[in-house]
Amino acid sequence: MSEKKTSNTMWGGRFAAGPAAIMEAINASIGFDRKLYAEDIAGSIAHATMLADADIITADDRDKIVAGLKTIREEIESGKFAFSTRLEDIHMNVEARLAELIGPAAGRLHTARSRNDQVAVDFRLWVKNELLCVRAALTGLIEALLDRAEENASTIMPGFTHLQVAQPVTFGHHLLAYVEMFARDRSRVDDAVERMNECPLGAAALAGTPFPIDRFATAKALGFREPTRNSIDSVSDRDFALEFLALAAICATHLSRFAEEIVLWTTPQFGFARLSDAFSTGSSIMPQKKNPDAAELVRAKTGRVNGHLIGLLTVMKGLPLAYSKDMQEDKEAVFDAAETLDLMLAAMTGMVKDIVVDAAAMRKAAASGYSTATDLADWLVRELKIPFREAHHVTGRAVKLAEEKKLPLHRLALADLQAIHAGITGEVFSVLTVEASVKSRKSYGGAAPGEVRKQIKAWRKRLAKT
Ligand code: ARG
Repeated sequence: MSEKKTSNTMWGGRFAAGPAAIMEAINASIGFDRKLYAEDIAGSIAHATMLADADIITADDRDKIVAGLKTIREEIESGKFAFSTRLEDIHMNVEARLAELIGPAAGRLHTARSRNDQVAVDFRLWVKNELLCVRAALTGLIEALLDRAEENASTIMPGFTHLQVAQPVTFGHHLLAYVEMFARDRSRVDDAVERMNECPLGAAALAGTPFPIDRFATAKALGFREPTRNSIDSVSDRDFALEFLALAAICATHLSRFAEEIVLWTTPQFGFARLSDAFSTGSSIMPQKKNPDAAELVRAKTGRVNGHLIGLLTVMKGLPLAYSKDMQEDKEAVFDAAETLDLMLAAMTGMVKDIVVDAAAMRKAAASGYSTATDLADWLVRELKIPFREAHHVTGRAVKLAEEKKLPLHRLALADLQAIHAGITGEVFSVLTVEASVKSRKSYGGAAPGEVRKQIKAWRKRLAKT
């Protein structure tokens, strides 16, 4: 009881100075938004330049402001800048230092501006830059996949459904499935950049400003296509952050599926592939073990990225227009998701380059489980003109017989096959090997090595263009 009383009066022993210190701790974002320093300074330089061009401040004040901001950038980059929690966030830290450096002129920088549009423009610039980094990383991953797919355009492996051997495919074809996924991720990045490429600076607190500012000039100076069109939306919109997290979550999900396959392939049970020591670790107790830790961590970190998406959606869902302090919670989610996704993409690209395939083990598995049964059924349809449903039935009987005799399909005696359907000829054996099966899948986008090579070529051309 007495202990409870003490902690009540103390309000948590961590906070030495009582409520004011707690307020500072919950309010401050400088611990994480210092990451926005370069964007904040770029935004301020663009704003000050425009203010002078519009005769809202003098050229002399502009020059002092711009020089001071450049000094601050150097101080931050050389680790000399003293960040202060009392000054809450990056915007006020920079402005306070500017006042120390250049005196009263610093007070003119915030004319026709609010922290609400300031943070909106800083964060957009940061997310846009991150999107371009993700795009470059995706391009690198796609190129690595294309190289490996080319090497393995005719490396036979089992294709699975329900994780049961289904039909033979090639490893190259399997890798191209991931090329498609990561290329869609890349196009989602392009869509997101296109949509968010508008500058909120000049919306001020929420209603715009009476000063004769030129929002088109600041938009252009900061590399945006145009200014945003509604001042209320400008300071309350975080769609660009949500879209980044959404595309990051989808991309992470693709990486996770791939990681899961690497985990499976590198088990002794599958034995399809090996990772070098660079991307695996040993066990501290079992000397024989080699664990695919990088793949497992890519799989696990997906949970973290997906969590950030749900986190920010939940922060935003109940907010009335326009700005609320809740929105300060957008940054850590995006920063952590970005850092995590960058690392996941780098690790996956490394594993794709590193992985060594056991073609013999893959081929052996591809031939198991009567994987060419569909080829038999297709042959019956094509050569004997039997309806597919009936061919399916005939093939089922052949598989059952092969199972009883413990033979692969192509080892059944012709007479046995003819007992099931009299029309079957010796020709049928030419379609029952895994090589023949894969080679026959020539439909557009199919598994045939020739098709795989065509798609690789087409992807290389597409990548060279964009
Ligand atoms: N640190 C704040 C944020 O990240 C900046 C905007 C503050 N605006 C305000 N009206 N208190 O959202």
